[in-house]
Amino acid sequence: MNTGPSRIAINEVGPRDGLQIEKAFVATDDKVALVDALSACGFARIEVTSFTSPKAIPALADAQDVMRRIQRQPGVIYTALVPNIRGLERALEVGTDELNLVMSSSETHNRANLRMTRDQSLAELVNILHAAQGAGVPCNVSLSTAFGCPFDGDVPTDDVLRLAGQLAEAGASGVTLCDTTGMAYPTQVAALCEQTARALPGMPITVHLHNTRGMALANAVAAWQTGVTRFDAAAGGLGGCPYAPGASGNVNTEELVHMFECMGVQTGVSLQPLLDVVGKLPRLVQREFHPPLLAAGHRLATHRPPAWLAERFGAA
Ligand code: COA
Ligand code: ZN
Repeated sequence: MNTGPSRIAINEVGPRDGLQIEKAFVATDDKVALVDALSACGFARIEVTSFTSPKAIPALADAQDVMRRIQRQPGVIYTALVPNIRGLERALEVGTDELNLVMSSSETHNRANLRMTRDQSLAELVNILHAAQGAGVPCNVSLSTAFGCPFDGDVPTDDVLRLAGQLAEAGASGVTLCDTTGMAYPTQVAALCEQTARALPGMPITVHLHNTRGMALANAVAAWQTGVTRFDAAAGGLGGCPYAPGASGNVNTEELVHMFECMGVQTGVSLQPLLDVVGKLPRLVQREFHPPLLAAGHRLATHRPPAWLAERFGAA
């Protein structure tokens, strides 16, 4: 098997992608406590919230309060999603470390999600990049639907590379290739990561995977094998875009950490504190769900053999 880098960096997007689709409003205090608990787990980045329209994403209407009130740990970069100039202003007001600008690779998802054409979004993001440069705040750009659009189907690679190139030229500090509704498959992920790296040498590439069709971990390995070191993930596998039909959760952070650590790849994240956070998520979002790794534990969390084995076979 081709191996990839010995170390990766995880951007925990649960507080943003995870909560944006939840029906129950999570109280501001609880959001702050969630981010603070995640801050103790060893993440490189935490995407705290989004500075979107509260009409579009009511779940995150308290973005500024949350960003103001979290306790920032040295070494963790606190980032937030920004779709427009108004979002930039709100993010800067509360001292967001890094912005994650967003637009879609496909026309129809961009219109549904951001109520703009791709050209309008591109112009908006270029304006934000210029303004943020003046403010000295780095901006990553997330390209949604890079591996497929729930409306338009396959998205031409040229569209993704063209947008990535234009945004890089305007000053983006990184590019995230997003699989918004879990349409990506491993060979496709490897090909697009390689093409993006070739088109934009030196540009940090992140992959943002959803597990809608059960391929997220396989896709993460495929990206890693091409040299990708940055991954978005959401604790408990929460997440999804409310403006993408059929959207479901992000790749589970705990599964991603567990898998890479088993493979000898350092993630910087401590699994047990993360599992403690995951265990509290169902109560936080007020619905039952069962993150598999929480039930199973680490692969070496073995069980005591049944008592009758010793009676029948003697001590092992
Ligand atoms: N923060 C807060 N309020 C905002 C805002 C922002 N970033 N952008 C716009 N608004 C407000 C406006 O002030 C206006 O308020 P009003 O009705 O009280 O006057 C209202 O929202 C509509 O503004 P407009 O510029 O016409 O926006 P829109 O309705 O065309 O929506 C977006 C455009 C981009 C703001 C909206 O579609 C959005 O926030 N989308 C985000 C979707 C998302 O996060 N999806 C999941 C992640 S990929
Ligand atoms: Zn997502």
